[in-house]
Amino acid sequence: MSVPTVFFSGGAGFIASHTIPILLERGYRVRIFDSMLRGDRDRVDEFCATGQVDLVEGDVRYGGAVQHAMRGCTHAIHFATVSINKSIADPYESVDINVIGNHNVFAAAADHGVKRLVFASSASVYGDPQKLPMHEDDVLQPLTPYCISKRMGEDLLGFYQRTKGLSWMALRFFNVYGPGQKTEAYYTSVINTFLRRIRSGEPPVIDGRGDQSMDFVHVTDIARAVVAALESERDNLPVNVGTGVDTSIAQLAKILIAAVGASMEPQFNPRDVLVSRRAADITRAREVLGWEPTVPVEKGMADLVRASA
Ligand SMILES: NC(=O)c1ccc[n+]([C@@H]2O[C@H](COP(=O)([O-])OP(=O)(O)OC[C@H]3O[C@@H](n4cnc5c(N)ncnc54)[C@H](O)[C@@H]3O)[C@@H](O)[C@H]2O)c1
Repeated sequence: MSVPTVFFSGGAGFIASHTIPILLERGYRVRIFDSMLRGDRDRVDEFCATGQVDLVEGDVRYGGAVQHAMRGCTHAIHFATVSINKSIADPYESVDINVIGNHNVFAAAADHGVKRLVFASSASVYGDPQKLPMHEDDVLQPLTPYCISKRMGEDLLGFYQRTKGLSWMALRFFNVYGPGQKTEAYYTSVINTFLRRIRSGEPPVIDGRGDQSMDFVHVTDIARAVVAALESERDNLPVNVGTGVDTSIAQLAKILIAAVGASMEPQFNPRDVLVSRRAADITRAREVLGWEPTVPVEKGMADLVRASA
């Protein structure tokens, strides 16, 4: 019997670098398909040295290259993307990579009859949530080309399920953080901004009252959810992957001050800010993936601070 092999677009990126070790542990081979626009080449070299991983340097915008790399793969994970900020700055590039690219990967996976495709969707498909916690059946109001492409990706998966029997899962990741993350990540860049100030002896500055919140989910928990989705008995669903806990910016500042061991209070910059809040309803992830978040935000942030000291 042939070894199960995962086509992994965006496999040189942040979340992939935590997912690939679990795949290897579970006996998969991995074919990373990545343009190396942002990927971590040293980490990829380490994976390739195991003999179980190969890198195809390619761009998801080119359907022929994707089709070729999908040959012999039994599973697929699709992560390749350009970020929210870039999608606002350059919607043309974003639509090319995130819409055409999604379609190329889904079509190739369907043509090659993979057993399961896992798509990295995003909590940003909900737009500004009307209520917390956010449930998969809530209204979707994606606001940027990136978020729109995630929603469209989920709809396209439905098309290939109906026409070609593709089996898929779309994971709506909340605010992912952890070791290896790029410092300019759209939502979680606040962690680095605060940390830089605390370490230089200055209090973090919070606009308004710091009521805005995020659902911070540790990258190792995300990686476990991805593998669970690749293997779950249930399929063809969007699934929230968060912790269910909304951490306000004011709380985050205090958590980071404690993690550094500094003694200071955050500084508040009084002004009107649009307060957005986020927390995932994770009932479906528990039921469908048998998944549970394991890293509380205080511990995850403390580990991050230690690792980056
Ligand atoms: N990190 C988060 O907080 C978060 C939250 C929600 C959803 N997501 C989604 O999870 C997935 C992985 O995120 P990440 O944080 O690991 O991102 P990342 O930027 O670290 O990795 C993305 C990878 O895609 C590659 N790539 C970019 N354009 C490409 C192209 N045209 N062809 C082939 N490869 C290309 C990059 O080189 C990079 O290695 C993405 O789809 C992202 O939208 C992430």
